[in-house]
Amino acid sequence: MEIREAKDTDLRDVLLVEKEAFGYDKEANLVRNLLSDPSAHPLYSILAFENYKAIGHILFTSAYLEGLQNGASISLLAPLAVLPDFQKQGVGGKLIAHGLKLLTNADIDLVFVLGHPGYYPRYGFKPAGVQGFEAPYPIPEEHANAWMVQELRPGIIGPVSGIVRCANMLSKPEYWRE
Ligand SMILES: CC(C)(COP(=O)(O)OP(=O)(O)OC[C@H]1O[C@@H](n2cnc3c(N)ncnc32)[C@H](O)[C@@H]1OP(=O)(O)O)[C@@H](O)C(=O)NCCC(=O)NCCS
Repeated sequence: MEIREAKDTDLRDVLLVEKEAFGYDKEANLVRNLLSDPSAHPLYSILAFENYKAIGHILFTSAYLEGLQNGASISLLAPLAVLPDFQKQGVGGKLIAHGLKLLTNADIDLVFVLGHPGYYPRYGFKPAGVQGFEAPYPIPEEHANAWMVQELRPGIIGPVSGIVRCANMLSKPEYWRE
């Protein structure tokens, strides 16, 4: 399997993977919008290939803590998609790990995700709300554990906390309902 950052010419593959993994267009449209949203940059769009076929995609976009624009460098993971035929083979985990390495090299301090609380903790994410981080839109109490964070700079959690603000295209209530 090859994992590398997506190029402009990979857009068709990126959108196809998103659409087929989720079974509908919502995430593909979100990715398309985020790629051309200046407030989402710097972003990391990463593809996984098997025998030259794109089988997985992950996107990390820029975010910040309200009132603390220079307090910490933040990224948001959304979405992650693996083609149905290639799921449960570790592709998602490898995409996450590859992305976290790129983010660490880029001096990003914190990564957030709103996702399955049974999945992301396997890859180092922990509930964010109890650690003082609010999502861009309130997460209902029963889904509180779906809002998660991982620190890439050890010790950054504690000194910083607050409301996470994300890219304009992602800053819509429809993306924050689990
Ligand atoms: C979620 C998804 C990205 C996982 O990709 P993947 O390559 O299959 O993941 P991995 O191989 O790294 O991990 C597989 C493990 O995670 C588990 N898992 C997958 N989805 C899960 C979920 N929603 N909740 C809990 N566990 C989940 C699998 O059961 C498997 O467990 P096992 O190792 O005990 O068998 C993929 O299933 C997918 O694209 N789903 C559709 C789109 C989606 O829901 N994206 C996530 C948005 S938050």
